[in-house]
Amino acid sequence: MFEHLPRYAGDPILGLMSEFFADPRMDKVNLGVGIYYDEQGRVPLLDCVAQAERTLVSEHQPRSYLPMEGEPAYRALVHQLLFAKSLNERQFSTSIVQTVGGSGALKVGADFLRSAWPGREVWVSDPTWDNHIGIFEGAGFKVNRYPYYDPATRAFDYEGALTAFKSMPAQSIVLLHPCCHNPTGIQPTREQWKGILDALQASEVTPFLDIAYQGFGQGLDDDAWVIRECAARGMEFLVSSSFSKTFSLYGERVGALSVVSRIHDAELVFGQLKLSIRRNYSSPPIFGAALVARVLGTPALRQLWQSELATMRSRIVQMRAQLVDGLTRLMPGRDFSFLQRQEGMFAYTGLSVAQVQALKMDHGVYAVETGRICIAGLSPHNTDRVCAAFAKVMDKS
Ligand code: LMR
Repeated sequence: MFEHLPRYAGDPILGLMSEFFADPRMDKVNLGVGIYYDEQGRVPLLDCVAQAERTLVSEHQPRSYLPMEGEPAYRALVHQLLFAKSLNERQFSTSIVQTVGGSGALKVGADFLRSAWPGREVWVSDPTWDNHIGIFEGAGFKVNRYPYYDPATRAFDYEGALTAFKSMPAQSIVLLHPCCHNPTGIQPTREQWKGILDALQASEVTPFLDIAYQGFGQGLDDDAWVIRECAARGMEFLVSSSFSKTFSLYGERVGALSVVSRIHDAELVFGQLKLSIRRNYSSPPIFGAALVARVLGTPALRQLWQSELATMRSRIVQMRAQLVDGLTRLMPGRDFSFLQRQEGMFAYTGLSVAQVQALKMDHGVYAVETGRICIAGLSPHNTDRVCAAFAKVMDKS
């Protein structure tokens, strides 16, 4: 009955994670999946989360269904974190729903947009997170790419992106990363963002902002700047957000989808979001969002979270600097300063597919095929080894 099925080639990120776990080498290093590891190579349980968890467990709350849109307190706190006071609330409104992680937000958003606008097309950066393409194609969209990374300069291709935005058919949907671009770590400057938003407004294109790393780039407010700028400009747009990395709550699947619309359309939007959720998974799970809401809604825990987030951010910055130092020491003829200009959890190394394969096969160092590495998988214990492995595979080419 199923013999005609195509063989699934596996996911380029999650498949690599399984391969890593199956690898018996003791000194293997996982720089593939986007997970923050601490100095000891562990996925941290944040202290703020542990404290919130103890309180929640002691409260012995019943586990009925949440409403389709999720927990009201959680949704209000998401609003605060993303938008602060940027929205003109006399004219615009946010419809926010709790989702199953950031991927769930993208999926609910993609289904919602596809049923609202069946004829439109989606544009993603070249390159982007692989699953962006999968989710939007899975919802039935044609997915196109706009220029983003210029391999010659190893920088953002501002002119290329702008030209694409200016010539896009009106009503296209454009996926943007407000901070910590995945996979390149390369961000437009604020001036460039203003140019991008001017172009999108002139082309009447709808931005879909995917923010999975708020606080891992420059800080909580700086990383949300693009979102708040869109709101302040009176644009209508969508935001998918996630607490997987910033709360180290990967497996709890805590995310949100926010749709900014004119106030008189908000009820219609909210209804369609609920319908999309009902058709996908009915209603979201309780516990992860309850943890986030408890932390964000309790001033002392919120402060603790912000300091734990700052610690994660600065460890990433330190490891990036150590990587650049190590590579420069081993390969003095080459310039690695481009890695310092990237931000967030990822470094886009420029390694070829063959070099990435050699890293894995010969040295047990796992990176994504595009040459993306997760800086947060580095530690003072493994950086020298990783740099030596890089030097070996780069010397061969
Ligand atoms: C990543 O980019 O590695 C993460 O967002 C994890 C994933 O689901 O791909």
